[in-house]
Amino acid sequence: MKVPLAIVAAIAENGVIGDGRGLPWHLPSDLKHFRSVTIGKPLLMGRKTFESIGRALPGRETIVVTRDRAFDPSRGGGQAKAIHVAHELEAALALAQARAQAMGAEEVILAGGGNLYESLIGRAERMHLTFVDIAPRGAVSFPAIDWSNWLEVSRVRPRPAAKDEATFAFVDFDRRRCFSL
Ligand SMILES: NC(=O)c1ccc[n+]([C@@H]2O[C@H](COP(=O)([O-])OP(=O)(O)OC[C@H]3O[C@@H](n4cnc5c(N)ncnc54)[C@H](OP(=O)(O)O)[C@@H]3O)[C@@H](O)[C@H]2O)c1
Repeated sequence: MKVPLAIVAAIAENGVIGDGRGLPWHLPSDLKHFRSVTIGKPLLMGRKTFESIGRALPGRETIVVTRDRAFDPSRGGGQAKAIHVAHELEAALALAQARAQAMGAEEVILAGGGNLYESLIGRAERMHLTFVDIAPRGAVSFPAIDWSNWLEVSRVRPRPAAKDEATFAFVDFDRRRCFSL
């Protein structure tokens, strides 16, 4: 059976998700949340997001999408076994499916960035979003969301940790199913 594609993203009030090089906020609680949502799963991400992280994440496998045929993910000292490279989206999705099956993962995670969210939001079945109560400057935004397609299934507003720069909420959505009678 096909493993669902789930977006994981942290989005500011103004839609910003990044400044092009990294995240425009410091939110250790969200990094912990990201780890707990993604552990044991394959992560699909654009080359720019991969380079902003710079390595394989423990307990996960990363599929980096790039048009650069010479791209070498181990250049930054990454663990070659946990990083795969795909040169187009369909190949990346197929590889992510295969890795999810092999890992026994219940989701394929679409981990960004803006470019990949924009291209694949139409294929996602779930979204694990962090709404960050801040409006930073940043060149990269989450694509427009057609909320009529999404059903909110859980919302938690944790107390921020001492080093969190803003308050935030963790909100999960499932794609609404269309039933024709
Ligand atoms: N807040 C969050 O939750 C979150 C999550 C993830 C990332 N981010 C932020 O988002 C920013 C990066 O996002 P971004 O939109 O600039 O870049 P991105 O989506 O991470 O990566 C874009 C790159 O992916 C490759 N790519 C995209 N479509 C492709 C296709 N159809 N076929 C082959 N390769 C393809 C290209 O790589 P090549 O140029 O190598 O060909 C393209 O330049 C950073 O600031 C990061 O920190 C935020």
